[in-house]
Amino acid sequence: MFAVDFEPVRRHAKCSKDKSILDCARELNIGLVSICGGVGTCKHCRVKIVSGEVSELTPEEQSAFSDREINQHCRLACLCYPRSDLKIYIPSDSLTAPQRTQVEGLELEVEPEPFIRSFDVQLTPPSLGVPEPDDQNLWSALARQYDVAEGMIDLKVQQQLSPFLRSANWQVRVAMRDDEIIALGPSSTRWLGLAVDIGTTKIAVYLVDIESGKTLASKGLMNPQISYGEDVVSRIVAAGKSHKNAAKLQSLIVDALNMTAASLCESVHADPSHIADAVFVGNTAIHHLFLQLPVQQLGVSPYVPAVRLAVDVKTRDIGLHFAPGAYAHLMPNVAGYVGADHVAMLLAIGIAEAGPTVLAVDIGTNTEICLNHKGRITSVSCASGPAFEGAHIKHGMRAAPGAIEHVRLLGEKLDIQTIGGEPPVGICGSGLLDIVAQLRLNGVLDKSGRMHPHPLVRNLDGMVEFVLAERTNNGDVTVSQKDVRELQLAKTAIRLGIRALVEAEGLTEESIDQVILAGAFGTYIDVESAIEIGMLPDLPLDRFKQVGNAAGTGARLALISRSQRARAQQIALRDGYIELGTIPDFNLKFAQASAMSRSIV
Ligand code: FES
Repeated sequence: MFAVDFEPVRRHAKCSKDKSILDCARELNIGLVSICGGVGTCKHCRVKIVSGEVSELTPEEQSAFSDREINQHCRLACLCYPRSDLKIYIPSDSLTAPQRTQVEGLELEVEPEPFIRSFDVQLTPPSLGVPEPDDQNLWSALARQYDVAEGMIDLKVQQQLSPFLRSANWQVRVAMRDDEIIALGPSSTRWLGLAVDIGTTKIAVYLVDIESGKTLASKGLMNPQISYGEDVVSRIVAAGKSHKNAAKLQSLIVDALNMTAASLCESVHADPSHIADAVFVGNTAIHHLFLQLPVQQLGVSPYVPAVRLAVDVKTRDIGLHFAPGAYAHLMPNVAGYVGADHVAMLLAIGIAEAGPTVLAVDIGTNTEICLNHKGRITSVSCASGPAFEGAHIKHGMRAAPGAIEHVRLLGEKLDIQTIGGEPPVGICGSGLLDIVAQLRLNGVLDKSGRMHPHPLVRNLDGMVEFVLAERTNNGDVTVSQKDVRELQLAKTAIRLGIRALVEAEGLTEESIDQVILAGAFGTYIDVESAIEIGMLPDLPLDRFKQVGNAAGTGARLALISRSQRARAQQIALRDGYIELGTIPDFNLKFAQASAMSRSIV
């Protein structure tokens, strides 16, 4: 029997060498698409072997995948058998019940002011009388028709120039970035942009019409780096172990982005070679891993980034297959644990202009919190851990169908709501928060987080747990005392961060005029539950605003507007940073913030 780990769904199984990966996934109730029933004809059960040995590639698989995909160890789950312990990644397209990966965010309201300028140019074919070289011919036409001064032509574009001009009958559409020609296309070409928010767990990708600023298509997917660890610290450690690991971590993201860009383009009948500009945001570690920058210094005090300022680099240098001379813009970081995604979020919510006292919280495996008080911006980063993603929780799971997401308890009457209305299979982050708040409201948990007797509380093999759903086959869905402690740690980190920012300004939490909750988790939580357990300050509900994926919105703003890109740089430079470990009376304040009650002082 071999141990098989399925990511990103975080399921583990024992599988014999006679059992296909698909059968193994089915036993775990993982919804792998298998339209043909597992006979190798539909080609939908695609998975990627991250590590371990498997059976030989079959002829059916050879025809199902490109050489590139085969090199990336893509396989059909129904035709592939384990030959050692395995780590398997399931792309979101292969899951019948995709996990909730949020792409919705604030609406954009800025005038497009793109970096890319587009020119339709009619050239004069060279003749014996006027044998003008092709590059000069193009610059002459641009000067004649648009008064554009001669600049540079990207080398890859130069390599295509002569055959392209002739095949296009000397009529082309040119994409220019500043004074550089970065792409050529037929006159009908619509130049596109890609805005990407790379989260530790989830990635949101937006395909944008650069000229109109309109988002044409978007997609959420799981970050495939999860196979190297749930949190960024594990990935920093993995990358630090070898160049091979660092390269693998980078290529996992790049491959996923190439595939997603291709599928988004296909959905709007476009070609990835028309993507002329791209903006990426992510936390500092993700940013560094994406550019293969050194990450070891992020793992040791004082946790400084290798690069803080914005970076512009050719997309091809990262391995992305976009327009030949396209650039990737990586927005600036603030500190080792406050990255460009935070800057993008602050840009999207207009933190620089918001006021007078606004708190912005982006809850995730790592939670970034920012306070803007009278124009002074200060941020803090809290290691809130993966409990909100369902990790380290006995029946925890990510936000997928069947996950308990809302709970109400009235005495002994329990009311649970699952994603998609499916039978309960586990608990996602917002569900866990609700359960703990309800247990607290009903006196099942005391202020210290200890679980007390209740008709639904049992002691099973020394484990005290509250039964949420009874199931005949797979064991009951429960929340244990240990789960409560995990959530308590996460919520304590967040509340401590809020308190540190407020106190650094000499304020109290009551002076906060507005609390903006961003990110997928921040969007789905019940704010009252978060207040009840002391995760968020006890303020009137109308001071809270849940805004969705604001980091993704910020990335789109920077993609379509030059001035928004410049504003992001200013925000990053203005942002002061507090290291949580350096606050006075840390231990005392940590103990106070761990209280499971509305008031922590
Ligand atoms: Fe159809 Fe594998 S289930 S090809």
